[in-house]
Amino acid sequence: MAENYRIATLAIHADDHHAHTSDIASPIHLSTTYAYTSDPAQLKSFKEVAEAGTFYDDIVYSRENQPVVVRIEEVFSKLLDGHAVAYSSGLSAFHAAMIYYNPKNVFIGQSYHGCKQILSILKRNSGVQSYPLESASELIQPGDLIHLESPINPYGTAIDIEKYVKIAHSHGAVVLLDSTFAPPPLQFPFEFGVDMIMHSATKYFGGHSDLLAGVLVTKDPKVAQTLHDDRICLGTITASLESWLLLRSLRTYDLRIRKQVANTIKIVKYLDEHRAEFPALKSITHASLQKEEFIKRQLPLNGGPVFSIEVASPELAKIMPSKTKLFHHATSLGGVESLIEWRAMSDSEISETLLRISVGVEDADDLVEDLCNALKQL
Ligand SMILES: Cc1ncc(COP(=O)(O)O)c(C=O)c1O
Repeated sequence: MAENYRIATLAIHADDHHAHTSDIASPIHLSTTYAYTSDPAQLKSFKEVAEAGTFYDDIVYSRENQPVVVRIEEVFSKLLDGHAVAYSSGLSAFHAAMIYYNPKNVFIGQSYHGCKQILSILKRNSGVQSYPLESASELIQPGDLIHLESPINPYGTAIDIEKYVKIAHSHGAVVLLDSTFAPPPLQFPFEFGVDMIMHSATKYFGGHSDLLAGVLVTKDPKVAQTLHDDRICLGTITASLESWLLLRSLRTYDLRIRKQVANTIKIVKYLDEHRAEFPALKSITHASLQKEEFIKRQLPLNGGPVFSIEVASPELAKIMPSKTKLFHHATSLGGVESLIEWRAMSDSEISETLLRISVGVEDADDLVEDLCNALKQL
């Protein structure tokens, strides 16, 4: 595939050469086991294949690999500009990165609570220590890992990725970036020197709130090979039906993400400019409202499709989701349907006055109206 195709084209065609039938939409492969060649002359022992380094391409058993996951990884590798390995969820991707890097110390800031829970398990089992991000410049050692999330859950604000990459690399440590809140074309983290990128593909890549998946991306093919080998043992490959749903979703990814971010910028701008009309609205957080110099460089489209608001009291925060007609009260993000969540229900560290808003692909003016009507009723 030519190097210069853009995201919309890559999402539809990057895996064309993996189509082995004339179906325009990939077939679903549910089989767990695949027939070996019928030519005895071509049969090779496991040892021979492993020594030749080819077993990664042969499809034998679906915990190892399967045809649709091969296609997904081809699309992800092109979209995310590296070597992609697909997982059964965002958290299984994060866990795989921890197993690969095996750090003694992890520096982690505001980020998805599930990643912190995995670090608690690693602490319980093998003594992995977690430290606040701000202490990295003082405490970081060779082999340690900085885990960044940007834009940050639930605020939709961004942190300076390059700053932490410099700290890590000058001490022989690495940076893993959870870029779930801003997949391309919203953010291209390898440009800022991160060592590995992770996404919960459950969100924007899946896009329809109907599948769980995750992905890790590395610039180094040898690292990707090790991640694949580890995944075979961990059993965390994307499930057969989910991988088909994900490939189907990737075809429309570019349309969805651009509409979701454009809707978000419009809604945030409107609320920001009309704050005075909503006495219950105390604050709005989103990268498009940040003034730091790195924002434009890091987020060329001005942010991602999640933002948060704080209202005057926890009681009002509980009431707000019952007043919207288009925003469902539910956790998660990235789907075509807009969601609002009283975030205290999912994350014990978040203020009880905060509502996280995930913007879908509905008409932006309808969404603005719906939020304004709800805010006026508080
Ligand atoms: C930023 C972020 N990272 C990781 C995850 C975990 O992804 P998954 O639910 O696919 O395991 C989530 C899920 O909400 C998330 O929001």
